[in-house]
Order: sequence, then structure tokens, then C-alpha cells
Amino acid sequence: MSNPRVGNLAERVVARIRTRGPITFADFMETALFDPEDGYYTTRASLGFEGDFVTSPDLGPAFGRSLARGVADLWLLMGKPATWDLVEAGAGRGILMRDLLGALERERADAARGARPAIVEVSPRMRAQQSLALEGRDLRWASVARSLAPINGVVFANEVLDAFPVHVLTRTAEGVREVFVGEDNGQLVEIIRPPSTADLRWRIPESVPLGGRWETSPAAEGWVASLAAALVSGYIVLIDYGGDEAELLTRQGAGTVRGVAQHRLIADPLAEPGRHDLTASVDFTAIRRAAEGAGLQLVGASTQREVLVALGIREATARPATPIEQLRAASRRSAIDALLDPNGLGAFKVVCFAKGATSEGLRMFGAPRPESAARYP
Ligand SMILES: C[S@@+](CC[C@H](N)C(=O)[O-])C[C@H]1O[C@@H](n2cnc3c(N)ncnc32)[C@H](O)[C@@H]1O
Repeated sequence: MSNPRVGNLAERVVARIRTRGPITFADFMETALFDPEDGYYTTRASLGFEGDFVTSPDLGPAFGRSLARGVADLWLLMGKPATWDLVEAGAGRGILMRDLLGALERERADAARGARPAIVEVSPRMRAQQSLALEGRDLRWASVARSLAPINGVVFANEVLDAFPVHVLTRTAEGVREVFVGEDNGQLVEIIRPPSTADLRWRIPESVPLGGRWETSPAAEGWVASLAAALVSGYIVLIDYGGDEAELLTRQGAGTVRGVAQHRLIADPLAEPGRHDLTASVDFTAIRRAAEGAGLQLVGASTQREVLVALGIREATARPATPIEQLRAASRRSAIDALLDPNGLGAFKVVCFAKGATSEGLRMFGAPRPESAARYP
């Protein structure tokens, strides 16, 4: 927002609309999440049980440990490079990178030795939390992937694509229209108008019914292309909620935009921008198209449940001897159940793309465990 800083973010958005007219929902979402002074991720984002929402790494180290095994497999498939990049994009509180590095060091010291960890992060608030979680580690930060180029190694992102601004399209009797945000007596309200750019018209699938909605995120697609451009050789692993176009179409055009605060849905996502998270389910068909257009090759796509099971998240360890250890083990097991829940986190999608690296033999998508990885516990 270029308006002078007067009032809270909602008031500034209203003032901007009064001066320049309604803004697209994508512009609104970008402002609500990333306004440099008052955006949710800039100033307020609070992740974890005590915060607004929980992501997989919040449930304990099993998620990071399993991904570490997947990453180690990729390192083996890259030919065990002596040095390689391990980049997390959009790292939240830094817990996943912390757990993943720790597990890699314990289980695959030869891979961990040459890993050059880095984080791509736009939010200064998140960066501060990441540096606390990763204190003492030699780690690079960048706000765009380009600054880390050339990347040779593995880039991963968990629940980042869903934070990118979406254009909301709707099919009406008059043709394709777009949801804009206007104001009425100081309240932010939806306004339906012709699409802000002509190409958006073609982004809504034919089968979205009359009155139905469809979200599309050129910003997320551009971001994946920017990761691809920075990657010289290796893999990109993306995890998020959403589905391919066919799956999303089963929702009969019900929109997926939602606001979340303190683990509850917000009744009106337009109210109080900057004070809660805004998110939309990811269209993985569009992401795949963008990735392939940017020179990546799809290696595999599956659910979080299948990938984590393939990576051995449930492999039994010896039964703990003491009651307290048994209690800890029970709590770890219930965290794993939550990560695998087919109606929850387990239904998230995991997609992996390759560039200048083999697309065969990934254990996370069901291939046999690479020969030299056989010593995993
Ligand atoms: C929902 S949080 C997920 C955090 C973490 N990956 C996890 O699993 O807990 C989204 C993260 O992506 C970051 N983010 C959003 N847009 C980004 C962008 N364009 N580039 C890099 N990071 C971004 C946010 O600041 C935040 O750290």
C-alpha cells in the first residue's frame, strides 16, 4: 500500500478504495498478508498451538525426520554431492528446518556434512523466529530464491503456496466475472466486476457451475517459476492443501478462501485485514503447469499420508521400558496419527519436481529404498 500511514490497515484500504476504486481480491489478500507495516505475516503471524494455526512440524519431530529421509534419498540420487544446497522456502517458525537438519545429522551424517542450509523468507517477523529456532547454525537467508542462485540441491516448502494471493473468479449469466473489494460506509464489501485482466477469463474451468467460484494464483505460479529459475540441478518438493483441478471441481464451485485466527474460521475474511491469516486451497494442476513451463519435470505426486508412510514414519522402534517413556511414545504415536489423518493433514498433497536430476527411484513415491540408504533405522 502506498497510502501514507494513517489509521489501521482496514482504514487505509478503505481510503485507497475511496480514492482509486475497488481493488481485486488478490490485491486485498496481498495487502492483508504482506503490507510492510500492518500485514499479517509482517507484524502478527503467530503459528503453533498457542497461535492462529498449526502446521505439520508443530506436531513434533516425526515430520522433519521423515522429510529428512526423503531429502537424503534425493541426495543419493544426485550422486552424493560433497556440497549441496538445502533450501526451505517460507520457513515459518523454523521448526521444520531445525528438525530436518537434526535428523539428517543423526541418520545420514555423510549427507548432512556437505549440506548448505538456506531459507527463502519474506517476513521479517518469521525470520526473527527462524533465527531463534536455528541459533548457532550457519545458515543463509534471502527474500527471493534468485539471491541464492545457483542452487544445486533440494528446495522444499510446506504450506507456503496457500499463502499466495488469489484472484477469485465467478461464472455469471453475463459471463466470467471477478471478485473485487469495495467499501460501503467504511465496511469492506465484495463487488463483482469484469476480470481485471483479459487472461483471467480463461483461467476458470468450463465446468464451474453458474454462480460458482474459482481461485487462481498467478503469483504462486510465478513464485514456483522463480524457484525453478534459481535451481540449476536437483529437486523441489512442495507440500500443501488443495488438489488437482479435477479434485477442486468436485467442490461444485464453492470458493476456498478462508480467514483463520486462533484455530477458528473468521466469519468475514474481509473484516480486519492484517489481523488474521487468509488462505486458499492450492490448484496443483496450475502449479504443475507453471513448474513444467519453467523447465521442471514432475517426479511424483501423492498425499502426505502415503509419502510419510513410504518414508517410514511408522517404523516401529523398541518398546520403551519405563512408564514415562511409554507415555512419551504414546504421545509421539498420536502426533503421527494426526500427520497421517486422511481427513486432515494426511490428505495434503506432496509434489516433487526435478531439474537436471533423475526422476526415477524416489522412495517417497513408492520406489524401493535406494541401495545405499538401507541403513536407515
Ligand atoms: C503458513 S506459513 C508455513 C510455515 C512453515 N513452512 C511451516 O510448515 O510451519 C507460510 C510461510 O511462508 C512465508 N512466505 C509467504 N510468502 C512467501 C514468499 N513469497 N517467499 C518466501 N516466503 C513466503 C511466510 O512468511 C511464512 O513463513
